[in-house]
Amino acid sequence: MCAGMKWVLCALLVLVCVLGADVGKAEAVCPQGCFCTAAVVDCSSRGLTTDTLPSSFPASTTELRLHNNHLTALPTGLLDGMQALQLVTLHGNPWECDCAVLYLRGWLIKQNNDALKRNVSCNSPPSLQGRLVAYLSEEVVLNSCNYWLCDLALASQISLFIFIVVQAILLAVVVYFLRHFSQLSIDAQRAAAESFDS
Ligand SMILES: *[C@@H]1O[C@H](CO)[C@@H](O)[C@H](O)[C@H]1NC(C)=O
Repeated sequence: MCAGMKWVLCALLVLVCVLGADVGKAEAVCPQGCFCTAAVVDCSSRGLTTDTLPSSFPASTTELRLHNNHLTALPTGLLDGMQALQLVTLHGNPWECDCAVLYLRGWLIKQNNDALKRNVSCNSPPSLQGRLVAYLSEEVVLNSCNYWLCDLALASQISLFIFIVVQAILLAVVVYFLRHFSQLSIDAQRAAAESFDS
């Protein structure tokens, strides 16, 4: 049994080493679907959406091109920790200025590149179309977060209601069967007593 455990441990170690090596490699490798030269990662005009965007980029990237895609938001933290980054292009994307724009807005505010800030504008909602993301007021963005939270609260209330209704139906079914069963056993007892009497 001990030998068996050693084998399991060994296999686990090998697995950890292989996985570790993979993680290390992913850092330096060109993200799938993008084109890389030296430290320039070009993911422009690839029809990328927020969902199909690579989840990380090489840490050594100095220029990241994300323009002319279908991006509606940047995943939170995407550009954090990319110390070498000097230029990111983001124009030509239909940015959605709702609660999810907070990360992009916060990141843009920290940049010193005015051309970049002028290039990133809201495509929706209609009331904010054309507004520059970097200059959206906190109030406007937080308002959209409130709506989002309200929707979430409403959704959880509705699920709770459905849950309670289902519970009530189940309880009614159980009560019905219990009653039915006790009636059956009373009938059976009575039948038994009658046959004993006669
Ligand atoms: C801003 O957008 C223009 C095209 O509209 C582009 O040529 C330029 O490189 C962009 N600049 C930055 C910093 O994103």
